[in-house]
Order: sequence, then C-alpha cells, then structure tokens
Amino acid sequence: MTDEHSPQESGDERAALLKAAYAVKSPDDNRALYAKWAATYEQFLNDNRYIYARQVAEIFAERLPAGGEAVLDAGCGTGRLGWELSRLRISPVEGIDISPEMLAEARTMTGPDGAPCYRHLMEADLTGSIALETGSYSGIVSSGAFTHGHLGPDTLAELLRIVRPGAVGVIGVNASIFESNGFKDRFERYAAEGVIGDLDAQLRKVYEDADSSNANHFAYLAAFTVI
Ligand SMILES: C[S@@+](CC[C@H](N)C(=O)[O-])C[C@H]1O[C@@H](n2cnc3c(N)ncnc32)[C@H](O)[C@@H]1O
Repeated sequence: MTDEHSPQESGDERAALLKAAYAVKSPDDNRALYAKWAATYEQFLNDNRYIYARQVAEIFAERLPAGGEAVLDAGCGTGRLGWELSRLRISPVEGIDISPEMLAEARTMTGPDGAPCYRHLMEADLTGSIALETGSYSGIVSSGAFTHGHLGPDTLAELLRIVRPGAVGVIGVNASIFESNGFKDRFERYAAEGVIGDLDAQLRKVYEDADSSNANHFAYLAAFTVI
C-alpha cells in the first residue's frame, strides 16, 4: 500500500483490477489484459502486499531434495515467484507465460544477488499442449495463474508430463474455484492413481491483509511429489 492511498482507496482499486482479471474467458482475453497491466503489475503486487508467490516458494524449498535441476514457473508473469526462488537460492528457474509484455518484465527481474531470476523465458499458451519434452524439469511451481478464466485443471496433466519422476510441485489455485472447477478432484484423482504422492493442499492468504470473507483473497497451495 502506498502512502498517498488510504486503505479504502487501495481496496477499491484492487477490487476493480481483480474484477477485470476475473472477467477474462479465453487465452486472447488474457493476452489483452496482461498487455495493458504488465507495466504496473509489480506495483499492484507491492501496493497490495502480495504474499502468494513467497509462500509457494517456501513450501517448494521445504520439499526440494538436494541435487534438483531446472524448475519451471507456469504463468510466471513479471517474475515475482522467480524472485522468491532466487531469494531462497533455488536455481536454475525457467518461466513460461502467454503474455509477451509480462515476459518482458520478467526478463528484467534480478534476484538479491543481482543475477537474472530466470535462465530462460518462453511464450506459450498453457491451455494447449506445451512444446517441451517429457520429463524436462525437476520442479514445477505456479502462483496466480490457476484462477478465473486463466488456467484450468486440464493444464495440470500437461505440466505433470513435462516433469520427471521425483520432481516436486507446488501449484497455487484460487480458493474460490478450487473445488467448483474440479481442481480438488483432479489432484485427488492423480494421487489415487499413483501419478503423484505426498499431496498436501494448504489454504493460504494471497495478500497480507486478505479479507476473510472473500475466497478470491485465498489460494490452495497444492504440494506433491511426482511418481
Ligand atoms: C495473476 S498473473 C500471476 C503472475 C505471477 N505468477 C505472480 O504470481 O504474480 C497470471 C499470469 O498467467 C498468465 N496466463 C494467463 N493465461 C495463460 C495461458 N493460457 N497460458 C500461459 N500463461 C497464461 C498471464 O499472462 C499472467 O502473467
């Protein structure tokens, strides 16, 4: 929250921006939304004391075995999660996103050590098949991309294809759609089928000052190991 904004004003701005973000329905809508938002998106995160990416990174770090290799950040946006991983000395990290404008911001993101947070950034639509080889990554993370009109549960199958056995995943999903859009069932089905193990979905705040009556201010962070 900036000094010149009262909490009420800031809350109203957040509500308006989130209303626009949750109104998207297609990959083209997402491209158009984030083309406009990319330049001010990091400021939005700071003003609203966004803590989602930090928590995904911390749960990932707790589970990561020694000797892991590349981690993929799905829907990386401007790179907040890459920054948090860099802070925890997790590398190399690659990012993938549909928005060239958001990726351009992520390209400039450097960690506390001054090094770029991402080794490689790719533009792709994650609602379709991903042009990456099976078993390419030893970790998969995501914050903020599994939400209204963005990525649905079918994307999870493709993400699980491109990670290798033993890989660690922490995928955040907006709490208001976790059950209604089939994410809970999908994670539980993958666990029952032996595709993933050690599944644990924790409900966490997206913003430091999350309104407890608004499920959009919360996310389930689903952590698992790929079998
Ligand atoms: C709310 S932002 C989250 C960005 C970042 N992970 C964070 O925590 O701040 C959602 C991101 O998902 C991306 N996205 C939306 N639809 C997508 C799609 N079909 N394929 C790939 N990325 C998509 C958007 O471009 C945007 O950067």
